[in-house]
Amino acid sequence: MKKVLILGGDGIGSEIMRETKKVIDFLNQQKIINIETEESLIGGVSIDAHGKPLTEETLKMAKNADAVLLGAVGGPKWDNVGQDIRPEAGLLAIRKGMGVYANLRPATVFPELSDASTLKEEVVSGLDIMIVRELLGGIYFGEPRGIETLPNGEKKAWNTLVYSTHEIERIAKSAFDIAMVRGKKVCSLDKSNVLISTKLWKDTVTEYRNKYYPEVELSHMYVDNASMQLVRNPKQFDVILTTNMFGDILSDCAAMVTGSLGMLPSASLGEKDENGVVKGLFEPVHGSAPDIAGKDLANPLATILSFAMMLKYSFNQSKESDIIVDAIRNVLKSGIRTKDIMQKGKIEVGTKAMGDEVILALQNLV
Ligand code: IPM
Ligand code: MG
Repeated sequence: MKKVLILGGDGIGSEIMRETKKVIDFLNQQKIINIETEESLIGGVSIDAHGKPLTEETLKMAKNADAVLLGAVGGPKWDNVGQDIRPEAGLLAIRKGMGVYANLRPATVFPELSDASTLKEEVVSGLDIMIVRELLGGIYFGEPRGIETLPNGEKKAWNTLVYSTHEIERIAKSAFDIAMVRGKKVCSLDKSNVLISTKLWKDTVTEYRNKYYPEVELSHMYVDNASMQLVRNPKQFDVILTTNMFGDILSDCAAMVTGSLGMLPSASLGEKDENGVVKGLFEPVHGSAPDIAGKDLANPLATILSFAMMLKYSFNQSKESDIIVDAIRNVLKSGIRTKDIMQKGKIEVGTKAMGDEVILALQNLV
């Protein structure tokens, strides 16, 4: 029996989570999985209830669980709270608290949706990139950081982009391990022509590859060039390995290249424990979309796919994970679409109906 903590969060979070819970319940009933769930609050809803975006109790629950499934955090309602208690601070704190340093963001295109991108179909059809983003270091967490008022009344604020060897090595290992079961190609992104900390990144990644992964083809690219290449010819990439902030920016870009942000899952992984379980936090790449919250419009598929990633990466249940992906593919094949991925001649449904369709498709597969 595995224990999963569910954190719906803000905006559309509770709606997409409700549909994902249906999938978990169904697979439990069928004895395909054996997962016990509990729920708590994160982000704005936690600020409303407890005055902070992540309480000690919730973090404790997250650490005690085998994996965490998170919806999304944030919204205009909490725009004016202090920087330290913003909903996003809760997300950073749970990542740090759980020690999940490897953020996996696949950018893949389901064949049924290959004309959804703003790019030409031939540029994106069959696209399958994995972005491996370092998640607990770099400028997001670097010290010193601060803000002060200078004697002349002007303000000054600073953050630090810092990486040490062990942080680079462990994320490089994650990227190389993933590349080994994919196309065996890693492209590491840096700005080593300007930033010394990313020069260390580049050199450490190169040494690590030479020492432990001679089979992997490693290339390096400046991040500015990579942003261009991602929209020019995204299929040249297999695994992209990069720092926290570069990965944040480029994963949004890669998501849009696929044209269907509402379809993209993500996994954030830590070390394997004694029982072979990889502690993980799983969340859709899209945000809390407050503008459509409560309207039964959100696409629950990215969250359901995030749950599928949980089965594969945390619980080593690839077969069970594939059943979910196949069910979703069948739903798309049958022409069912939520508003965000709606195409001419297809059938538009709401959040709940999409969840029901996934269950129907699952029933046909198990
Ligand atoms: C993401 C988000 C977060 C990040 C924010 C909400 C803190 O943009 O997961 O990509 O920057 O990591
Ligand atoms: Mg982001």
